[in-house]
Amino acid sequence: MAVIRVLSGIQPSGELHIGNYLGAIQSWVHDQHEFDSFFTIVDLHAITVEHSPVELRENTLRLAMTLLAAGLDPQVCTIFVQSHVSAHAELSWLLECTATYGELSRMTQFKDKGKNDESIRAGLFTYPALMAADILLYQAERVPVGEDQRQHLELTRDVAIRFNAKYGETFKVPRATIPPLGARIMDLARPFNKMSKSSNSSSGTVFILDSADEIVKKISRAVTDTESTVKYDPENRPGVSNLIELYCAVTRDDPNEVASRYTMYGQLKKSVSDALIALLAPLQQS
Ligand code: TRP
Repeated sequence: MAVIRVLSGIQPSGELHIGNYLGAIQSWVHDQHEFDSFFTIVDLHAITVEHSPVELRENTLRLAMTLLAAGLDPQVCTIFVQSHVSAHAELSWLLECTATYGELSRMTQFKDKGKNDESIRAGLFTYPALMAADILLYQAERVPVGEDQRQHLELTRDVAIRFNAKYGETFKVPRATIPPLGARIMDLARPFNKMSKSSNSSSGTVFILDSADEIVKKISRAVTDTESTVKYDPENRPGVSNLIELYCAVTRDDPNEVASRYTMYGQLKKSVSDALIALLAPLQQS
């Protein structure tokens, strides 16, 4: 039986947070034992926005160390830095000439990051072609990503199919595999926004190297709402639902079942911080 090839990437653009860990890295650590897995630190993607070259080098190394500490094993999977393999940039050009201006214009991530700003880098616009190259180069079939990358994966599929039709069967057509929980951990202070490395305040983001005290402090300050019951309802009660999802992403419990166990926010928050502290302790020690 042919072994299934997996590829995923992560940007070296700042300190890792639990959204990255629960949404991506945790599933990578699992996948490496089941699939022929490739994981790449996408430094070429990180230069599509403003950055410091010195920090980029440091972040790339630090991210590699963190991936190893989290349990990725270079004896089992392949871990590499994107810019070390020049074929990524080479194939990216061919795919830029396969994808259309219209397709790239419709990418919500591009629209969010500044469609109408004249000073935006051209590479931010063509970013999805580079991402498609990352995937197609390795003939990857499964691509574990967060929900926010689904559209880029759809584009990758369309581009692969079009390329194959024009130039002959060349690429496997990959598909996204999105973890059900943890793919979209929200900011603790602004639960309508995704938890992000680049958000301007760190109070809503739990970094994977945060101390136990910091975790307790951040979770206890997480916004909930003024209702007096614990209920899982992401639409109407994003704050408390995000806490429940965080907990379930760690424990793999069912969100509604977890909600039914608690009557007060304080108890739920204590369980969330305990779960996070226990989850991160082994990684922080290594
Ligand atoms: N764009 C992805 C993100 O920001 C990172 C990425 C780059 C990626 N290349 C990839 C993810 C290839 C999966 C496969 O999260």
